[in-house]
Amino acid sequence: MSRNRPPFPCSNGAQRPPGHPPQWPYNKAMPPIVRFVRRLEARPAEWQHPAAHVRTYLGEQDIEPWLAIRNAAFAFLGGRPWTAADFRREFLAQPWWPAATLWFAEVGGDAPTHTSCNPDAPGRSRGLPVGTLLLAPAERPAGCAILRWLAVHPAWQRQGIARLLVRQAEMAAWDTGWHKIVAETHARWQAAVAMYTACGYTCHPAHSAL
Ligand SMILES: CC(C)(COP(=O)(O)OP(=O)(O)OC[C@H]1O[C@@H](n2cnc3c(N)ncnc32)[C@H](O)[C@@H]1OP(=O)(O)O)[C@@H](O)C(=O)NCCC(=O)NCCS
Repeated sequence: MSRNRPPFPCSNGAQRPPGHPPQWPYNKAMPPIVRFVRRLEARPAEWQHPAAHVRTYLGEQDIEPWLAIRNAAFAFLGGRPWTAADFRREFLAQPWWPAATLWFAEVGGDAPTHTSCNPDAPGRSRGLPVGTLLLAPAERPAGCAILRWLAVHPAWQRQGIARLLVRQAEMAAWDTGWHKIVAETHARWQAAVAMYTACGYTCHPAHSAL
């Protein structure tokens, strides 16, 4: 691939990509958006992380941890940190808000069991949330899901946290009947591009048909 050309045609630089923060200077030239796609042929095998486990969003008490991860992971964008109001607008106010598929990767604490995913239940200890990912249905076509808001706190990057979250999302997608998974990112966000590639996703132009 030429170093001087973006890998794919650039989308409209003034358009905010889904799942990305409104403070981006959208009136300025933006890196090209690329779409990563993976078609699942079978249910992905569960993948155990040596130090982390995944749990779902539990309610209001998870807004601050989500913000801490988001603001640290996306600090490279500049702009103001997000607040609880941003979280409510981005997630809770949406008709499609899927609390069950907003995950946190936690280190320490007790992993969820088949009877409880609530780390605040008596006798269980709470871990430290270090990464997050949302899985949502795509508007179309049917059977397609979107990965959104993947972020890992910089102190925990390159330790397999994103890989763990993506695998969790893939298993849930398969169980829901979504066998194609899509994620959009910027071609210049090298960690995201490398991570999706490492997880078996193939890169396509942002506006290609799904
Ligand atoms: C992209 C991001 C989520 C990756 O999280 P992570 O937990 O560090 O990723 P993992 O440790 O699971 O990496 C899995 C594989 O992806 C690749 N990878 C991840 N980050 C990489 C980097 N910075 N450089 C090169 N390869 C990388 C590697 O192949 C890695 O496997 P390896 O460490 O065994 O070589 C994280 O860097 C992040 O939060 N970035 C800022 C926010 C962002 O860009 N989110 C995605 C928006 S779509």
